[in-house]
Amino acid sequence: MHMLEVKDVHKSYGNLEVLKGISFTMEKGETKVIIGTSGTGKSTLLYCINQLNPPDKGEVWLDGEEITNPETDINKIRQKIGFVFQEFNLFNHLTALRNVSIGLEKVKGMDKEKAQERAMAELTRVGLKEQVQQYPAQLSGGQKQRVGIARALAMDPMIILFDEPTSALDPELIGDVLDVMKALAGSVAMLVVTHEMGFARNVADEIIFMEGGIIVESGPPKQMFQYPKKPRTKEFLGKISTLYGKE
Ligand SMILES: Nc1ncnc2c1ncn2[C@@H]1O[C@H](COP(=O)(O)OP(=O)(O)OP(=O)(O)O)[C@@H](O)[C@H]1O
Ligand SMILES: [Mg+2]
Repeated sequence: MHMLEVKDVHKSYGNLEVLKGISFTMEKGETKVIIGTSGTGKSTLLYCINQLNPPDKGEVWLDGEEITNPETDINKIRQKIGFVFQEFNLFNHLTALRNVSIGLEKVKGMDKEKAQERAMAELTRVGLKEQVQQYPAQLSGGQKQRVGIARALAMDPMIILFDEPTSALDPELIGDVLDVMKALAGSVAMLVVTHEMGFARNVADEIIFMEGGIIVESGPPKQMFQYPKKPRTKEFLGKISTLYGKE
């Protein structure tokens, strides 16, 4: 049994067929990076996995349960899937600490003190011990995104889905967020949509290249960068590495 299994997932918006049969699996602690041009359906795929936007056809299994089955308790399953958004999605009227602890109270039913303790530990883990009482407006983009990561981690997910977690950040702040993600690799499974090729090359167990609604090619970074099987993979990686190739 795989930890996550995505089986032949299809998704259309009206006449626009975005996902035309996506299949892949993930195991505990694995890191996979999804790449592809704008509009290929990378975000759509993440939303199909956590059922924010369920697929039209196909199945998604997590930890032995079929998430796509309408009878599955989706709120329970969602606790196993963390999500880190490009635009942070923090509550602006709450401190960093409260942004992390609130889910623990409301979703996990922890008492306030325990939730705060746990939130404190996760914020410390992402390097924000000194900023816990600050509001999002008082944090840099990179710090906000690290709050987003701490919030996801606090729920003890099996997997965290990241949708371009650094693309809204100033270049000098990207490294801090990538360092946090790098440190997490192996302890929680991560499925990351990103253009950061240094991260893909050094941290990913596998890179998935999507285009035209399908997975064109996937494989370990070394294979994808050095011995791509498809000419299109080579062309795309060449282009993207020139733009985002910094280690
Ligand atoms: N809710 C929606 N309704 C209609 N069309 C949508 C919707 N969401 C996405 N699309 C369209 O589906 C296609 C895939 O969008 P998606 O956001 O998944 O792409 P993406 O690969 O994440 O792109 P990007 O790299 O720009 O984030 C795009 O053509 C987009 O315009
Ligand atoms: Mg997207």
